[in-house]
Amino acid sequence: MLNKLIRKNDKTISIPLKKRKEDAQQEQLPSHIAIIMDGNGRWANKRALPRIAGHHEGMKTVKKITRFANEVGIKVLTLYAFSTENWKRPKMEVEFLMRLPEEFLGTYLPELIEQNVQVQMMGNMESLPEHTKRAIQKAMDKTAMNDGLILNFALNYGSRDEIVQAVSQIARNVQAGHVAVEEISEQLLSNHLMTKHLSDPDLLIRTSGEVRLSNFMLWQLAYTEFWFTDTLWPDFDEACLMDAIENYQKRNRRYGGLKEGEGN
Ligand code: FPP
Repeated sequence: MLNKLIRKNDKTISIPLKKRKEDAQQEQLPSHIAIIMDGNGRWANKRALPRIAGHHEGMKTVKKITRFANEVGIKVLTLYAFSTENWKRPKMEVEFLMRLPEEFLGTYLPELIEQNVQVQMMGNMESLPEHTKRAIQKAMDKTAMNDGLILNFALNYGSRDEIVQAVSQIARNVQAGHVAVEEISEQLLSNHLMTKHLSDPDLLIRTSGEVRLSNFMLWQLAYTEFWFTDTLWPDFDEACLMDAIENYQKRNRRYGGLKEGEGN
């Protein structure tokens, strides 16, 4: 059901997705959307399927949402695909998750190239299996010249680890005399994170009803608008993304200050 039903003058009106998209494009869109894709396991469980079936369905949602985000005009889509903590899952599940980028890019890369999408990755690439690294590297190389939507996979990513690495790097630079302690600033720290070339997310979405950040972009989410939904990731569709965007557009972002006229 992609149309949105609203009540107006005691009548139920259905708004087609296309119209919702066009209306949203008339207003300020979130430039960077980050998503914690949660609920694959529960989706599978509800159907008496193995957890990996949920991850596979989740991969199809990634395609759908990437395509739609690009059409809407979102500039950056960051997807939490595998955290540094996810290695603790059963070996078979980890192996399956590590095969997904290969399958996804194996079938979808030509379309991503055609759609002008640029694939990027943040996380510790070194300790990924060779086949996963190869698939991601190939996609990054083949789309490097594209300047449409940035599809940024957070893979083997952990925010605390990212911050520790940034702080260590800055400490080494101070020790070597390249940076003075007085020069350490928010901007300097941001410049040492894996997102140094990206703006902070404007909108964070987490699916499946969980309301926590799970070590995701802790620094970058300082002023981000959050949208939590009970929908499980494999069920998340274009209309769900529109719900989140429309809700975002109604919010009053103040960054700790006041909007004009609010100071009286
Ligand atoms: C969390 O759901 C989801 C993950 C740990 C994996 C997310 C991966 C995908 C959606 C596919 C990624 C696709 C590509 C192309 C990289 P969960 O397993 O914790 O669900 P549960 O909380 O219901 O058990």
